[in-house]
Amino acid sequence: MATDLHYTAPGLSDADAQRVVELLQGRLHACNDLHLTLKHVHWNVVGPHFIAVHEMIDPQVEAVRGFADDLAERIATLGGSPKGTPGSIVGEREWDDYSIGRASTQEHLAALDVVYTGVITTYRANLKELDDLDLVTQDMFIAQTEQLELFHWFVRAHLEDKGGRLATDGATSEKGAAASV
Ligand SMILES: [Fe+2]
Repeated sequence: MATDLHYTAPGLSDADAQRVVELLQGRLHACNDLHLTLKHVHWNVVGPHFIAVHEMIDPQVEAVRGFADDLAERIATLGGSPKGTPGSIVGEREWDDYSIGRASTQEHLAALDVVYTGVITTYRANLKELDDLDLVTQDMFIAQTEQLELFHWFVRAHLEDKGGRLATDGATSEKGAAASV
């Protein structure tokens, strides 16, 4: 994924900037994939809670699109070239395409629990690494992680019982999670 940087932010070494751009590009692919996936869910949910979930998803789409814009512009700021084409997402992502079509609101929310878990887990790993690389980018990742964790809670609140147990507990795949609700 390496790209040559001909300049970067003052005070940041070329090697550190290179790695920061790689981390930014990874989250850019994740956010571009996520906002498209969320729209797919917005269009494909069915069932008695359709309108609540359909309308809950759109603000998440808008926020995650904004994250992608900020990540891409940070790459450019550091002297890199952000990749935002569909082919680059599919070619470089480390996860499979969202696997559920028309399905109930609960099935999609269960699958989104797995999706958000994957996206947020990498953000948190990146936060640790950025501690030694670039605190400015880390600050952006912290703010985005906070919002993503809030959206994850919105999803999980639909899957939780009165005792606080998630219906998706232990699920590792979207289809496995959807089958548990
Ligand atoms: Fe819509």
